[in-house]
Amino acid sequence: MEQQETDVLVIGAGIAGLSAALAADQSGADVTLVTKAERPEDASTWWAQGGIAVTRDHPETFREDILTASDGTADPDAAEVLVEHATDTVEEVLVDTLDIEFDTNGTGYDYGQEAAHDEARILHINAETGKHIHVPFLNYVAAETDVRLVQDTASLELISHEGRVYGAMLERDGDWAPAFAGATVLATGGIGALYPRSTNPGGATGDGVAMAALAGADVEDMEYVQFHPTAYDPDPPGVETGSQDSDDTFLVSEAVRGEGGILRNGDGERFMPGYHEDAELAPRDVVARAVREERADTGVVTLDVSSLAFTEEFPDLAEKCASYGVDPSTGIPIAPAQHFLCGGVAVDDRGRSSLDRLYAVGECSRTGVHGANRLASTSLLEGLVWGRRAGRDAAGYDPEQVEAPELLDRDPALPPAFASEKFHRLRRVMGEEVGIERTPGGLSRAQGVLRRLKGEVDAYIRTRTARSLYELRSASVVTLLVARAAAENSQSAGCHYLVEA
Ligand code: SIN
Repeated sequence: MEQQETDVLVIGAGIAGLSAALAADQSGADVTLVTKAERPEDASTWWAQGGIAVTRDHPETFREDILTASDGTADPDAAEVLVEHATDTVEEVLVDTLDIEFDTNGTGYDYGQEAAHDEARILHINAETGKHIHVPFLNYVAAETDVRLVQDTASLELISHEGRVYGAMLERDGDWAPAFAGATVLATGGIGALYPRSTNPGGATGDGVAMAALAGADVEDMEYVQFHPTAYDPDPPGVETGSQDSDDTFLVSEAVRGEGGILRNGDGERFMPGYHEDAELAPRDVVARAVREERADTGVVTLDVSSLAFTEEFPDLAEKCASYGVDPSTGIPIAPAQHFLCGGVAVDDRGRSSLDRLYAVGECSRTGVHGANRLASTSLLEGLVWGRRAGRDAAGYDPEQVEAPELLDRDPALPPAFASEKFHRLRRVMGEEVGIERTPGGLSRAQGVLRRLKGEVDAYIRTRTARSLYELRSASVVTLLVARAAAENSQSAGCHYLVEA
């Protein structure tokens, strides 16, 4: 693999990375966008369903909704940046540049309603908004800009010296080389692969957060891991299949509850009004905990869509149900699944991290917008807005060559089962002890398991270089950051919910 030089190295090709790459390119920088993905489906953006929130007539209510959903913990200034730039950025980038056509009705945009939003403000395309944004965005960047888009290429670690980042070590087909950059933008997405069941694609191993943390960047709010309340439940208690596979589930968008879907327990009772005045449209963390409790007590929770014209309103979800053998007319069995990391690499309003020339955007970043719990349909928006701001800011630096880390590969390759066995152990402990509800004892047990696992991985990585080993290292670093942050925070808020042992 050839050594490279570029002004701006963007790592990750979801909406945040694409937005950063486009903005840096438009600002005149030479941009290289690398992703370990081989297909659009490998990015979380592709899977986003509900949509992208915009600011309509009442910016102050949008800001208020963000703060309320976060249990009062979101940073008001960051929320202000998002609200102020939402509509313009969506119009300029998605509508005017990419020609994306959001759903309309007779009077204009068909704004959707989702939980904890005070008004309908969500632009969508059916309930598969992500793929309708992601594919045109990828195509546009590949065909209409000078960005070098390099797929199936992993970033193993950052090249850093004395508080400044100079690029990253890249790997492709078992070969590696440094890519030196004037500025490096992390846009690596979330951490769904670190939990037994998630709505994320399988490659969401937290690489950006891990690389930044190992280079010494500040990382914050890692305990706030959001679970989506309504993912298809292939494995209700009592019908245990032992499934630990995210492919066994699919997201059932919050938009379904926004349109009138009702949650019922195993006794057929609607339970959400007993938990929160906004019932099914309560903040996501509240609904996720209620679903978990009712599912444990009554065996199954279903999403009753009988009051909706489900097939007409959600054709893609109806298709998905059919492919999983689910008959929506009898209720869709659902359970919470890991969905989004609210914390990450701490950044300012332009995506700048605590390390010089290192930026982070999208789910791997912690802008402060989400605090302890993210408001629905703000993740694509945050990626788009911060990606653009970071891309513009990152565009002014020339690359410089420094000494790159020496990666060794002198010992025999590990058997393929090595990483998968360790991932299984790691996911199990994250699901059991660092999930929707946590206890001090469980968090301490989890840290013990994860520390041992990280020790094993570190020992192997000293003499071997393989993508799966580096993903495992990312996973062990990030899970420890999550478990440690959770153990150090004795205050339940949003997604971090402590119960007595
Ligand atoms: C959904 O469609 O329910 C997901 C939207 C989001 O996570 O913001």
